Amino acid sequence: MRISKRIQEIEQLIPQNCILADIGCDHAYLDVLAIQHGKCKKSYACDVAKGPLENAKRVINENHLNNIVIPILSCGLENVPSDANVCVIAGMGFETMKSILENKKLQQFHTLILQSNSDVMELRKWLIANHWIITQEKMIHEGHFYVILVCEKGTDTYTEEDYLFGKSGHDEVFHDYLLFRKNRIESIINQLKDPSSIQEFKHLLELIDKKMKQF
Ligand SMILES: C[S@@+](CC[C@H](N)C(=O)[O-])C[C@H]1O[C@@H](n2cnc3c(N)ncnc32)[C@H](O)[C@@H]1O
Repeated sequence: MRISKRIQEIEQLIPQNCILADIGCDHAYLDVLAIQHGKCKKSYACDVAKGPLENAKRVINENHLNNIVIPILSCGLENVPSDANVCVIAGMGFETMKSILENKKLQQFHTLILQSNSDVMELRKWLIANHWIITQEKMIHEGHFYVILVCEKGTDTYTEEDYLFGKSGHDEVFHDYLLFRKNRIESIINQLKDPSSIQEFKHLLELIDKKMKQF
């Protein structure tokens, strides 16, 4: 079982003694790891597609975790049992993640751990608008930069900068990410001709420069 650094980092953020729902589990590596590390007593490995769920069943069997990691065919939260109290949604784009989050059953969870492959700024906006606070952010680099958000119920106020960069997790990896974004944006600006688009990217560049100066 070769587990990515991204999945290992997500697992580390799972709170102790929870009942996990891993939505879009694919091979259920996260569920198996969380059980093996004693993070949760039970884990629901959920996926909308039969193929990934078959992968999950095989991995569960190989690790002798039947009845502890429970595979469930579920579109989003639809078939998630009501005793699950921590929800992980990882490795998918923001629009898919948003469609999963927009379900009344989300309220049964005290903690969400989210890793969107796109539009993290939009994800932060959705969370704040829907009365979730982001208690922790962790950026990792594994081919791409990924941000993992840990969320609990509550209210918070965010500035434009906060939505863009998050309020926490501003470590060395985050600094590398800013440098990467800065280089990308500079090369985009060099190719642009439309003045309003250039202005938009220059504003973004200013925000990145300002953030980098805080290190
Ligand atoms: C790229 S894999 C990510 C697997 C794992 N969560 C990870 O982070 O590596 C995305 C998985 O999400 C599943 N998926 C996509 N939309 C879903 C939905 N609405 N409900 C449940 N699972 C979904 C897909 O079938 C696929 O197995």
